[in-house]
Amino acid sequence: MPGLMSGLRERLGPAGLVTDPAEMAPHLVDWRGMFRGTALAVLRPSSTEELAAAVRLCAAEGVAIVPQGGNTGLAGGATPLGAAPQVVVSLARMTAIGPPDPIGMVIEAQAGCILHNVKQAAEAAGRLLPISLAAEGSATIGGIVATNAGGVNVLRYGMARDFVLGLEVVLPDGSVVDGMRRLRKDNAGPDWKHLFIGSEGAFGIVTAAVLRLAPLPRRRAVALLAVPDLAAAISLLGLFQDRIGEVLSAFELISAAAMQLVATQCGLIAPVAGGGWFLLVEAASSLEGLTPAVEAALEAAFAAGLVLDGTLAASEQQARALWALREHLTEAEARAGKSLKHDVSLPLQRMGGFLDEMAARLSVLAPAARVNVFGHLGDGNLHVNVLPGETPPERAPAITRMVHDLIAAAGGSISAEHGLGQYRLEDWRRLTPWPERALSLGIKRLLDPDGRMNPGKAIG
Ligand code: FAD
Ligand code: MLT
Ligand code: ZN
Repeated sequence: MPGLMSGLRERLGPAGLVTDPAEMAPHLVDWRGMFRGTALAVLRPSSTEELAAAVRLCAAEGVAIVPQGGNTGLAGGATPLGAAPQVVVSLARMTAIGPPDPIGMVIEAQAGCILHNVKQAAEAAGRLLPISLAAEGSATIGGIVATNAGGVNVLRYGMARDFVLGLEVVLPDGSVVDGMRRLRKDNAGPDWKHLFIGSEGAFGIVTAAVLRLAPLPRRRAVALLAVPDLAAAISLLGLFQDRIGEVLSAFELISAAAMQLVATQCGLIAPVAGGGWFLLVEAASSLEGLTPAVEAALEAAFAAGLVLDGTLAASEQQARALWALREHLTEAEARAGKSLKHDVSLPLQRMGGFLDEMAARLSVLAPAARVNVFGHLGDGNLHVNVLPGETPPERAPAITRMVHDLIAAAGGSISAEHGLGQYRLEDWRRLTPWPERALSLGIKRLLDPDGRMNPGKAIG
């Protein structure tokens, strides 16, 4: 499409249009190397105006658009499929961060900003942007908003959705909707920005956001605990909610198998003697008395027989070392081979039954496979990842189908936080009741009648 290419070059300049295959390559494959695709070009606009102009040119030629941020997504949402003519739109050059407002408790950032950098800017002003995940050194604000990312602090603060006060988006026809308001209260009409949060680029492109900030806790208490079983872990969650619920900011579950992978693949050893499961618990506050309150809760937990062994970090350095174990889980798993990711949520009381049934079915379906479970227990969110070992690759769809069927039967979700991307779309179609699917498809038709926004992902 020479006409389109010359139009894009004129609008975006040489730095904004990438057609060299070697330069395009990293944009055409996902972080884990699970999904690959092709594209006509990678567009790298430097402003909302440039982006909007490029989108209008693509609309005129019927070219589809795949938005891409840090490319850390785990569902293949940012990888082009290559079926219809499409371009990848990378937001990497749109990285402006506005000065944080510590009294209004907001910060403004363009979509290409790395999450870690925005968090640092907020912290420099004594405020917290409490969206925390191991990929925060690469994931972008646009990707975080588009996937409604979760992470390790959802228990206390909520998901990305809970932080978006204002949004700017470019629609599939190239029009710009400027909703960059800094308001905590705004009931003037339907809150359209929530359509774009979590829709994985299927409705439009997020170009900037106004994000709500929280107070920055000046103290934290971090403990790693070994517990005998899942039932004890869930009882402990109740105990901590009773005693220190207001300051409980993370309650992460790690199976012994997952902890073992971190040791073998990354050389990080847990300083706690293992049971079946570990918990990484964090409480944070600026108020005096945090550590004694956490110690008292831990004493009660030991007294109730819920904990086998445990350690409470005595310094910030120790706290970081405990968190490093948690933050290396995904990398350790990736180093062990290509896993089948299952990012599920379900009611806590059904979790044990689900895991037992899944293990039983897996032992029949794929006896050589191992399960790598960890997750955000406080949110009812498990990552039930399957390491296939010698299992024939053609069994993979049946394994995922089995996991998702069990989750649907348990009243859970097949995507708690990673999104559907291209990976889970078929199962979303299969398991979502028609009136609910029809509603989503109707919104898609309204916003993107030609189906050019991230086709084959998230919805369809
Ligand atoms: P990308 O991967 O580039 O894109 C993700 C999706 O968003 C795609 O569908 C893409 O088309 C769309 N998109 C990207 N930018 C835009 C935009 N500007 N406008 C519209 N659509 C856009 N996720 C969690 O929720 N919780 C976790 O705890 C977590 N931990 C992780 C740990 C590791 C080590 C890794 C590698 C990933 C983890 N993730 C986690 C997944 C991932 O980091 C998040 O989904 C993140 O939000 C993706 O951001 P990104 O900028 O990399 O987006
Ligand atoms: C995490 O919680 O670390 C990621 O969301 C999970 C994963 O890698 O499956
Ligand atoms: Zn997670």
